[in-house]
Order: sequence, then structure tokens, then C-alpha cells
Amino acid sequence: MIFPENFVWGAATASYQIEGAVKEDGRGQSIWDTFSHAPGNVADGDTGDVACDHYHRYQDDVELMRELRLAAYRFSVAWPRIQPDGQGPANPRGLAFYDRLVDKLLEAEISPYITLYHWDLPQALEDRGGWANRDTAYRFADYAQLVHDRLGDRVHDWATLNEPWVAAFLGYGNGVHAPGRKNPAHALRSAHHLMLGHGLAATRLRELGARSIMLVVNSSPVLTPAQVNDPQAVASEADAAAVDRIHALLTRQFLDPAIHGRYPEEVLAAAARNGGTEHIQDGDLKIINAPIDLVGINYYNPCVVQAGPGRPADAAWPGSEDVEFAAADAPTTAMGWPIVPDGLSRLLVRLSQDYPQVGLMVTENGAAFDDVVQDGRVHDVDRVSYLRGHLHEVGRAIEQGADLRGYLVWSLLDNFEWAEGYRRRFGIVHVDYATQTRVPKDSALWYRDVIAANGL
Ligand code: FCB
Repeated sequence: MIFPENFVWGAATASYQIEGAVKEDGRGQSIWDTFSHAPGNVADGDTGDVACDHYHRYQDDVELMRELRLAAYRFSVAWPRIQPDGQGPANPRGLAFYDRLVDKLLEAEISPYITLYHWDLPQALEDRGGWANRDTAYRFADYAQLVHDRLGDRVHDWATLNEPWVAAFLGYGNGVHAPGRKNPAHALRSAHHLMLGHGLAATRLRELGARSIMLVVNSSPVLTPAQVNDPQAVASEADAAAVDRIHALLTRQFLDPAIHGRYPEEVLAAAARNGGTEHIQDGDLKIINAPIDLVGINYYNPCVVQAGPGRPADAAWPGSEDVEFAAADAPTTAMGWPIVPDGLSRLLVRLSQDYPQVGLMVTENGAAFDDVVQDGRVHDVDRVSYLRGHLHEVGRAIEQGADLRGYLVWSLLDNFEWAEGYRRRFGIVHVDYATQTRVPKDSALWYRDVIAANGL
């Protein structure tokens, strides 16, 4: 299977998950510092204080990327390094780190893909209401401009948000992520304000001359249990209604306003039942509908549901009354996530049909397994098989007409996996946290060969 010419091969990371150096060069506090330091929020009490120490080791890490022949590296900028309090002038020492990183990448002929928000909101903004406060959207656009002003001469590929669903509904809905609030109305409001911030920032980046602007969402095909292994399985009317509603809450909530300029009925109904829709002001949808070039898709597993009459809404899914979230009949990763590679092609083909205006890129895909280092090697056969299976489905989606521009593996390095801490390893490169030694796993060497062959 050969991929299109110019298909972009790369890997992704995020600031709080790898950088460490949380008090250095004037960095302010983020909601993830606060959250991870509060007992009980993260497995084993882990924090991102040191993480992979990438802030000091970025040069070696870029060398590693060069050896793996990556063409693109997607990383995020830590907002509190740029604006320690979330507003006001830029902190030059914070910008300087990303400046050095970008130059090092370009020297290695690796294209930087910047994500502006991968969840590390300045704590000062959370203290003023966080994403539930409309003003945060405007602060985000100002911050985006500061980063572009410094790096826009060399960086052409920009993403506004990473996974607004997770930021809103795990951050403010079930409280599993920072800031740890459990309030359905705040979660829905936060989702809207994140999207408003996306639209404002996209407009600002465009005015400043950004070549490519992307929104990154976590998306999954929503399936009934029978459809997991049989795409043709016909759902009952009740099950199909559950599937449609969850698809609206997970994916259309973000892509419909961004690309079609409207909210799905299901989202408005969910808001109406949870605090109202007043936060959606006249003109907002026009802002959110700012033209973008690409949608980034983070895919790990399908979402499996069926009708569940009488069930209350799940805390992460306001609006999901009468829906039962079900298990998939499939093997799982160390996260317990079902492995369903063809879920990816089903998703990509559907999105390319629903949103033909934009190109698609797989901006995250990968798996955690319990890796062991043996004689300086990590034989992560499960990860190789996961990645091979999913890449094959990317190829199939392209054959079926999806406009797929690239694939970025999650993740370059083992890292701080949010509420799971360091016990879940997603890297293609193993990190020994005691010594900060990096060891490319077999999956990294395999991926290097895939890149060299531009195919499987
Ligand atoms: C995604 C996140 C990423 C990583 C993977 C496993 O939801 O964007 O930071 O944690 O999951």
C-alpha cells in the first residue's frame, strides 16, 4: 500500500505532557499544575513537574525525530509560558523556547505543526471562570497572535484547539481532567466558548498570514455493539436514535458550527435542558464558522452505544439521557480501549462526505501497552500491530476518496498521560523517567521504515 506523494508523516506531543520545567523562564501556573498537585486527581500522584524534561532536552529529541525520518512534528505551546497570567504582553523567555525549538526542527527539515491549546489554561484565567467565562475566548485570540507574531515567519501549519470535547466535558463535566469541575451547564458553555475562541483565533491567524489553519477534534464512529464487528448490521430505530444523538454531541457539536455555521438540534436541546442557550450570542456562529483548511482527527477507538430507556445522562455527556454506553467486543489496549482499526476508515470516509470543504489529517493515533525494556530494546509487537492496522485503514479511506493529508502518531515519547500519570505509555520511544534515557521501541524503527517506503 503506497501513500500519496506529499503525504505527511509525523508524530505528536503536547506541552504539559513532555516539557517539565514548570517554574522556569517565567512560566505561570496552569490548570494542570493545580489539578495534578491536588491529591486524588492523577494516578500515583504524578505531576508534569519534570515529565520528559523536554524543555532541556529538546535538541536531542529533535535529533531522534530526524533519525526516525519524521517530516512533521506536532507540538503544543504552553499558554502560561507566553502569558503567565493569561493576558497582557508576551513573556519573551517563554517565546524564546519555542523559537529555539522551531529553528532546531527546521534545521532537521522537520515541519513544525503548532497546536495553540492542548489544555494547559493559565490558572489566572480559570480563577476568572475559565472556559465557562466568555472572556477566555477573547484572551485566547490575543495569545494566538502573540505566538504567531514570533513564529509565523517560520511556522506555516497552525492548529487552534486540541480536542475541545475533552477540554469541555472532562474538564467541566465529569471532572476527570483539569480544572475538575462537575457541572453540565458549565461544560456546555465551555464547549461553546472554546469554539468561539477557535473562530476568533482562526480569524486572527488568517489576517496575520497563516498558510494552513486546523481544528483538531477527538472523533470516533458511533456504533451499536453489533456494528463493531459488522459494519452492515442494521440498528433498531431506538438504537439508531442513540447513535445519532451521541454523534451529534461528540463530533457535530464542533464540526457543524466550524464548517457549516450551525449547531445540531441535539446540542441546542442539551443546552436548553442544562442552564439554557443564552451563552450562544447573535453573531457567534459566524465567528466560529471562520474558514479553516484542515480538520485534525484524533482517533483511538469507536464509541459504542445503544438505547437505554430511563437512564440519566452520563456526566461527560450532558444530553445523553436514555443512552447506554456499551462495551465493544474487541481486544483492548492498556487503557482498556477497544482496538477497532476499521473504525478509523469508517470515520474518515464519513467525515470526508459530511465536510467536503476541508482536508483531513490524522493528528493522533496510537496505543498504550505495558512495555518492557529488554537488553536495551522494547519489542512492542502489540503497538506495531495497532499502528499497522490503523495505517492500513488510513490507506483504505484514501482509496475510498477521503482527502487525507497526513498521519501523526501519538506519541513520539512516553509521557504524562493526564489522569493516568506516567503508568500509561503511548510513546514509540521509551522514556526511563529516572534517568530520562530515550530508547526507540521496535514500533519507532518500524515507523521509520514505513516513512522511508511511503507506505506499508
Ligand atoms: C488524547 C490527547 C493526548 C493523549 C491521547 C492519548 O485525547 O489529545 O494528549 O493524551 O489522548
